[in-house]
Amino acid sequence: MSKQHPIMDKLVSMCKRRGYIYGSSEIYGGLSAVYDYGPLGAELKKNIKTFWWKWMVQKRDNIVGLDAAILMHPRVWEASGHVAGFQDPLVDCRQTKARYRADQVFVFRPKDGDEKTLMFAFREGDDETGIKKIKKIAKADPATYEKIILTEVPVTEFNRIVGPDVKEPGTLTEPRQFNLMFKTHVGPVEDNANVVYMRPETAQGIYVNFLNVVSSTRVKIPFGIAQVGKAFRNEITTENYIFRTREFEQMEMQFFVRPGTDMEWFESWKQDRIDYYRKLGIRREKLRFHQHGPDELAHYAAAAFDIQYEFPFGWKELEGIHNRTDFDLKRHQEFSGKDQSYFDEEIKEKYIPFIVETSAGCDRTLLTVLVDAFEEQELEKDKRTVLHLHPALAPFKAGIFPLVKKEGLPEIARKLKEDLQHLYPVFYDEGGAIGRRYRRQDEIGTPFGVTIDFQTKEDDTVTIRDRDSMEQERIPITGVFNYLFDRIDRIV
Ligand code: GAP
Repeated sequence: MSKQHPIMDKLVSMCKRRGYIYGSSEIYGGLSAVYDYGPLGAELKKNIKTFWWKWMVQKRDNIVGLDAAILMHPRVWEASGHVAGFQDPLVDCRQTKARYRADQVFVFRPKDGDEKTLMFAFREGDDETGIKKIKKIAKADPATYEKIILTEVPVTEFNRIVGPDVKEPGTLTEPRQFNLMFKTHVGPVEDNANVVYMRPETAQGIYVNFLNVVSSTRVKIPFGIAQVGKAFRNEITTENYIFRTREFEQMEMQFFVRPGTDMEWFESWKQDRIDYYRKLGIRREKLRFHQHGPDELAHYAAAAFDIQYEFPFGWKELEGIHNRTDFDLKRHQEFSGKDQSYFDEEIKEKYIPFIVETSAGCDRTLLTVLVDAFEEQELEKDKRTVLHLHPALAPFKAGIFPLVKKEGLPEIARKLKEDLQHLYPVFYDEGGAIGRRYRRQDEIGTPFGVTIDFQTKEDDTVTIRDRDSMEQERIPITGVFNYLFDRIDRIV
């Protein structure tokens, strides 16, 4: 991780040390932009998906779930526009072999230069490097330069550009389009006739099953279909840890509505999705909407807003909310030759529904909740690292601690642990000073600490310590289960 983001460096190190996230196949040197989730990360990820599913599907009567396959008929991706249009402009550096997305590289160009004056390219957000090069190589005043995007520079002038990681001009290649879909083959013969793609979004699995769901359930428009699953993109730029990876999970919901009501539903889903992130415990001031301008809109969208989060490396997209109109179903009707229209009993009309999509990244949500929850806290006599994870997301729901390792306390504590484990992952720890045991759980985000002490033997009560306030209260041991349930499961 970049040295410019010390908080990210600390978080990355904690994630590795405590078993949240590891690089993929590390013993072989790793695989770029692919990550594995360790014991705690696997729990956190599962909890994020469960929270989303409860919010989007379980607690509503008008959204149903789906689990479509990753591999789909290749025509799906022709219909969706991904074969022709899902590409990024790629630029290579001949000297360093580095690859850049041309639309993420900026250039300082002299305002009054001639055909010989140099231009200085740098990565998005790294203006500092460009400015340094103007001063050092051109020995000029940065104020006499203007900032433009690399794709605006005519290819005939590329020989004047000093690339982001070199000191000489003329090393950048012409931009070429690069399709982001991973290809593979079905069956033993690798030829063009049996190419299939690893899905780059889960949405298409929902569209091609729209009529299956209508005919096999009792849903009526307006209704939604939700799905959680893996997606794959051969991304060119992959910095910032798990923010942009080549294999990731999406949590997508497609809401099918009557044409003409789409913008109303679009607005209502925008609000709903912000409410969701608040419920997840994300600080409101770290969330904002970003509306897509005409040059940002995906080929399928009539309107689109991102929900962005302020990461240590800047405001970045966390989720997209799109009005996809009737684009997708119409295209599948055209490419498959199968009628995709819906008969609306209420108004006795047949139409192709419009679709409002909410598309969240699971791994990106995981990074967001970790960043938002991570704190190094100065206490009166001490300091601690604490992860303020929502109790529903925390990998362990409680630490169970016998105050001492004798006089029957471990037996009572173990019995409580076994009872709770029917529903909740809890961590039993009888080693070391109680303060140190609390700290170990604070660092990984365990929201509650249950201590069994001598009084427990007298009156069957325990103390429960709250991770965030560090306050303790005494409750009957038989009330621990309900105490956890109210704070973990009754919240969505
Ligand atoms: N079906 C619409 C769609 O896929 P998108 O904006 O390309 O829209 C939606 O992706 C969400 O998926 C993003 O907001 C992000 O959270 C997640 N996502 C996309 N590409 C990703 C990547 N390479 N790594 C991690 N998450 C990604």
